[in-house]
Amino acid sequence: MLIPAAIGTPRTEGALRVLLLGSGELGKEVAIAFQRLGVEVHAADRYPQAPAHQVAHAWYELDMTDPAAVRELVERVRPDFVVPEIEALATDALGEIAEAGAATVVPTARAVALTMNREGIRRLAAEELGLPTSRYRFAGDRAEFEAAVADIGFPCVVKPVMSSSGKGQSTLRSAADVDAAWAHAIGGGRVAGQRVIVEGFVDFEYEITLLTVRSVDPSTGEPATWFCEPIGHRQDEGDYVESWQPMPMSQVALDNARSVAARVTGALGGRGVFGVELFVRGDDVWFSEVSPRPHDTGLVTMGTQRCSEFELHARAILGLPVDVTLTSPGASAVIYGGLDATAPEYSGLAAALAVPESQVRLFGKPEAHPRRRMGVAVATAEDVDEARRRAAAAAAAVRVSARG
Ligand SMILES: Nc1ncnc2c1ncn2[C@@H]1O[C@H](COP(=O)(O)OP(=O)(O)O)[C@@H](O)[C@H]1O
Ligand SMILES: [Mg+2]
Repeated sequence: MLIPAAIGTPRTEGALRVLLLGSGELGKEVAIAFQRLGVEVHAADRYPQAPAHQVAHAWYELDMTDPAAVRELVERVRPDFVVPEIEALATDALGEIAEAGAATVVPTARAVALTMNREGIRRLAAEELGLPTSRYRFAGDRAEFEAAVADIGFPCVVKPVMSSSGKGQSTLRSAADVDAAWAHAIGGGRVAGQRVIVEGFVDFEYEITLLTVRSVDPSTGEPATWFCEPIGHRQDEGDYVESWQPMPMSQVALDNARSVAARVTGALGGRGVFGVELFVRGDDVWFSEVSPRPHDTGLVTMGTQRCSEFELHARAILGLPVDVTLTSPGASAVIYGGLDATAPEYSGLAAALAVPESQVRLFGKPEAHPRRRMGVAVATAEDVDEARRRAAAAAAAVRVSARG
């Protein structure tokens, strides 16, 4: 993986170029982190005025699942690094780009391909690495689905193999839920008619994201792995609503979590930030899934860490030293659209920012939907409980409405 010897000047021939595939709110912060290091930032998404488009040197609107479109864009931009921000990408094209040496795909083309499909990452984690996970089976049609549910038993969780943010996911408590769960899963994936995973329900006490950073250790010049403090979070219908850091854990559980995270990120390889999602009960840890990029629950690190997960990602991609120090307990709370509106407007910022130690990020998305994430509030405090109250109060103070 390329380690740039120098960073050229943006918009000149010598610029160090990064191409973001996906330009959402996480990509926007990654773009800002690269901008601060003098990197030339190119941002692509399937719609114009996406959050990272608004802070990039150049922006593109394209279907990133179309291999020809991705290849053509890489030829045009000639990036040093291709930085995927979303899962739904033409991963075969990324593999060819990496293979041809046209650009470095972050963290690796193989990691991006394995994690875009629950089957790839689950088989790697459970079957190759032997990591503890929920019991699981895959199904490609209704008959296989019923057999999988019968084998796993109730309660169980079904998800399309290619989906994110809880889309198409549901929990089955009895045979009465089978019809609805199947219909929901096959309608909720990114690709019609795709496979599903049926997982045994893990009765966890809490779940965490362990942000894991792979970069170069400046004292040895060798690749090394760092762990941020664990992030606790609450999910509603498979979508993150609030997160906080640090999440208190037993030392044994923390050691187990780090060991799982080190093994799975080591197998994926490359450099960058990974969001390792784990379920915890007592000292036991189950691997759930991993993002080979910053994680939405890690938005909290904009308040809590010396370097946010976005700065860590930019640094790690460039092979620079990273600093995972937690500077204060904190929390984040999502600001949802709450309505359907084009070019919505935001009020209540004064009340939100009157909350002590709070910050608000508005993503500037061109369209609001009731369950679309339009912004986030982040707050710090002496302890996590107070930080959660502050973040929730700041988020609740922001109102999204139709213009006029
Ligand atoms: N096997 C399971 N047992 C219990 N809860 C689960 C299970 N799988 C998922 N969940 C819950 O649903 C959330 C979203 O599931 P996840 O697999 O992370 O999907 P996504 O890729 O959409 O984030 C998890 O964070 C967890 O709260
Ligand atoms: Mg998840």
